[in-house]
Amino acid sequence: MPHLSKLALSAVIATALAVPVFAGSHAGGPPPAVKARQSHMQLYLHNLIPMVQMIRGSADYDAERASAHAGNIAALSKLNQSSYWAPGTDSDAVAESNALPAIWENIPDVIAKANAMSEAAVALSASAGDGIDALRAGFTPLNNACNACHEDYQKPQE
Ligand code: HEC
Repeated sequence: MPHLSKLALSAVIATALAVPVFAGSHAGGPPPAVKARQSHMQLYLHNLIPMVQMIRGSADYDAERASAHAGNIAALSKLNQSSYWAPGTDSDAVAESNALPAIWENIPDVIAKANAMSEAAVALSASAGDGIDALRAGFTPLNNACNACHEDYQKPQE
């Protein structure tokens, strides 16, 4: 996946050069890279929730909406995110960040987990419109792929 190799490459370059991320103070919330990263994750969640509601039966199954939401997650997963997974924005360095420092020590594994999530999202976007059972079947691997990365790399919420 080209976008992810770009991520890998720029992460390596950024680490090698130890590019300072913050030029000045960031009054008014977390630094832009952290905001962007968390916003990206919120967009995942925003698109995931309607599918959860359909699976749980609190919303009617809607093939078109299910496909659209799964497609959005797949599309988001293909954005080049290298600028916001910036070294120096981990949870030790930035109070608002829940990105564990382990991310920057395990870039290949993080990319593998991001890839796995992207593949699950692409698969789901192809099948989510084929009925509630297909949505349910394709949703589980995607949800597991989100969780697999959070387990290792998201700071647990107190
Ligand atoms: C490759 C790793 C990875 C994958 C895959 C991943 N996440 Fe995350 N997620 C993180 C990390 C790291 C954070 C903490 C980011 C921060 O605070 O800077 C996070 C944070 C979040 C947050 C909190 C955002 C906020 O406002 O603070 C949500 C919601 C979330 N993820 C949802 C998802 C969903 C839904 C998926 C799957 C569709 C997903 N994530 C896939 C690593 C991942």
